[in-house]
Amino acid sequence: MLIGRHDEQRAIDDLLAAARRGESGALVVRGDAGMGKTTLLDQAAATGEGMQVLRTRGFESESELAFSGLIEALRPVLDDLPRLPERQAAALRGALALEASDTDVYAVYAGTLGLLSLTAERAPLLLLIDDAHWLDSGSAAALAFACRRLGNEGIAALWATRTTEPTSVVLDGLPSITLAGLTDDEALRLVVSADRDLSPETTRALVELTGGNPLALVELPGVLTPPQRDGRQPIEEPLPTSPTLLAAFGRRLGGLPEESRRLLLIAAAIDTADLTTILRAGALEGLHESHLEVAERAGLVVVEDGLLGLRHPLVRAAIYGSADPVARRAAHRAIAASLADEQSIDRRAWHRALAAAAPDEAVAAELEGVGSRAEGRSWQAAARAYEQAARLTPARGERARRLVAAAQAWSECGRNDAAEPLLRDAVRLGEAPALLTDAEHLLGCIAFLGGRTQESLELLTRAAERVPADDPARAARVLADTVEPWLSAGDTSRAEATAQRAWELSKGEGGSSEIWAALRYGDVLGWQGEVERAAELWLRAAAVSHPGDLRSLCATGEALFSSGDDERASTVLEHVVTECRATGSPGLLPYALHSLGLVEARRGRLTAAIEADAEAAELARALGQPRERLMAVRGLAWTAALLGREDDCLQHLEAAAAAWVSLGRDQNPDATKGMLALSVGRTDDAIRELEPLVAEPWAPADAIAARSFAPNLLEAYVRAGRDAEAEKMLERFEALADRSGRAASRALALRCRAALEGSVEHFEAALALHDEWRNSFEQARTQLLYGELLRRQKRRAAARVRLRAALAVFDEMGAVGWADLTRTALNATGERARRRDPSTVDDLTPQETTVARLVASGLTNREVAARLFLSPKTIETHLTHVFRKTGVRSRTELANKLRDSPDSSVALGS
Ligand SMILES: Nc1ncnc2c1ncn2[C@@H]1O[C@H](COP(=O)(O)OP(=O)(O)O)[C@@H](O)[C@H]1O
Ligand SMILES: [Mg+2]
Repeated sequence: MLIGRHDEQRAIDDLLAAARRGESGALVVRGDAGMGKTTLLDQAAATGEGMQVLRTRGFESESELAFSGLIEALRPVLDDLPRLPERQAAALRGALALEASDTDVYAVYAGTLGLLSLTAERAPLLLLIDDAHWLDSGSAAALAFACRRLGNEGIAALWATRTTEPTSVVLDGLPSITLAGLTDDEALRLVVSADRDLSPETTRALVELTGGNPLALVELPGVLTPPQRDGRQPIEEPLPTSPTLLAAFGRRLGGLPEESRRLLLIAAAIDTADLTTILRAGALEGLHESHLEVAERAGLVVVEDGLLGLRHPLVRAAIYGSADPVARRAAHRAIAASLADEQSIDRRAWHRALAAAAPDEAVAAELEGVGSRAEGRSWQAAARAYEQAARLTPARGERARRLVAAAQAWSECGRNDAAEPLLRDAVRLGEAPALLTDAEHLLGCIAFLGGRTQESLELLTRAAERVPADDPARAARVLADTVEPWLSAGDTSRAEATAQRAWELSKGEGGSSEIWAALRYGDVLGWQGEVERAAELWLRAAAVSHPGDLRSLCATGEALFSSGDDERASTVLEHVVTECRATGSPGLLPYALHSLGLVEARRGRLTAAIEADAEAAELARALGQPRERLMAVRGLAWTAALLGREDDCLQHLEAAAAAWVSLGRDQNPDATKGMLALSVGRTDDAIRELEPLVAEPWAPADAIAARSFAPNLLEAYVRAGRDAEAEKMLERFEALADRSGRAASRALALRCRAALEGSVEHFEAALALHDEWRNSFEQARTQLLYGELLRRQKRRAAARVRLRAALAVFDEMGAVGWADLTRTALNATGERARRRDPSTVDDLTPQETTVARLVASGLTNREVAARLFLSPKTIETHLTHVFRKTGVRSRTELANKLRDSPDSSVALGS
């Protein structure tokens, strides 16, 4: 009988009802041990009539097996695997160890969503994930990814997790409820229903002292002494609850016969509830099923449907925690011995390791095998295996090697805090120069990321010196990573010398060392204003990148962007995005989409930029890529600033600031706020924000065509009448623009010159260059400045022509700030320009725009779903919205409408 929890049950009922209507959702139930989380999940399963139920849970364990939680959830629906896109099916088979394959972890995430939505096509689906704080990290990430991409499949996902545990990061931002203690009334009813014979005083004392924790309320009466039960003696304070409950369970365990306790210890040490498996291990210790009976009668375990359920996870903790180390090792030894089949190779290695009393090379080597199999599938599982393997390694050199492997794996999953101490141990133990290089190289990079520049320089310099002379590529890699620390230490000449050396060592090598050295050397030169030489190096990096390797191709696209070649940059990046979608692996997609967004923004295709960054931000969040998410959110802020959408921009900036903090970094100053101020006509604010960015040297990211703040600061100076400052800066910018030879930079320089001097000829020349550049947003900004000049010259008719043209573009793009500025100028010519009535506008969301574009390209809903890592049902819903908002009635009509337009949401009009 469930007591209380009315609000929680209603929330769960709503979730289930929505799933039955086809609307998916996820809900996280948080609460301390014993608060009633599992009870609520059970209740949901019982009320989920007509729904399919998939269930999994985490086990408390020393070991971590990649995707063990996921396989439990998906086992009943694996027959559907062949219906998934091939790459995802293969990745899932590999992850679930159904067959050996190169596992792409991101394809596993996508495949998880795919499999769940295929299942939900038969009937609404209830997914229950209990004790998520103990799930292996790969499973938690895959299931969380699926939950964040839910839409209209008819899936209800219910998670239970303890209040303060690591999974809270994976589940961050999903809707959640937190279980508090039962109310006094409810607690009273629970105690009475569990034990009628307690004295009223004792009952009241329990209610008060347990804080309404249901498990404590039910369990503690059983351990009270007779005088405590009838109220003659006060009960010891049973708070905090978990330790008290552990002690209570411990006392009950103490009353069991030895064999029962040994069999329970095996059940506690193994990470499955499967009775056959437990008994097989027990048999090796001479234990059998009858030894469970006493424990069952004592209410500590429940045997049902071939499963051995412990009364509560705290029972497991009590059993394991109270056993002496010798008995624990014996249990693990028995478990290892019972796991003979090929499928259990990783499990067996872990249990053998936990059974080892002293370092043992054979055991350590087996565990190292677990680590290398987990690499790429689950870096955390790999890290834990390597770390434990190192601990069990007798020989110093081997131990150091495994420590470095563990550290590299921790670093791969973003846990530099865990990596650092292992690396220090490795340096203490190690002798081989190659190993010391690896350790100090990584230590140096970690120190730099942690803001310890000086220390990082010492480490990296030493690492570079150690590299044997016959491995120049390795030395180049280390040196390339030393460039940024030198720059950040303010030593530009050392930075340049280091970059140059890296470049010389790697030139012609044709691999990643050459790419990185070229990129870093280009950065230093760009930083110093040596624009052409920088561009040459970036293009060189681009040329080295291998076309089949999407990661290097992405770097190619970035290099092209840095060199100012937007056309080719966008071609390359679009190719990367298309390939990521087609292969069904979203891992690189947020990064590639964001890079594409940068290019689109600079080409003036601002709606396309928003579309790319919006998808990148969502995907990065679901994939657990906080850095990529931050970049995408900053991209969204920048585009909103360009358009003069103040609320949007500030919202994104706030999200970005929070993301910076959670990454533990200082926020870089950037041009976003200044850009926004200019776009909404707050000229003085714009100058104040942008001026600090002008200080020499100009940041490398802005090195060539962009100099994103320069033309904007110039415009602000001109608008504020600060001509002298404008003149000084303009000369620098003109020199740069001339040298770059690009229409984009030259158009901007001419626009600024025209505005500063009030020169019609210069405006005409700028517009001629705009025809070449084909950036309608920047062209409209030039038209606005031109129109404003003509108005001041009292040439009203000519002014109106320019201003109307500008306004049409700004309105179409939703550049509200610029549109307002243009309207003000038009009004000053005597023309009443009406504001667009926002209530008639029903804009497509960025996601709807993406769906529309892909559908228009001739793909089916299922194909679109696979490319966007969403389910077909969700695509169907988006498409319905697209049809309603645009008045388009068929896919063919949509295709016709979009055929000739580069910028989909503009073509679809609103
Ligand atoms: N609302 C409730 N009404 C009655 N009993 C409850 C309630 N919530 C929890 N319990 C009891 O407390 C025990 C512990 O709850 P459980 O759901 O296992 O906690 P958790 O999963 O949060 O650790 C359950 O076995 C059940 O007997
Ligand atoms: Mg529970």
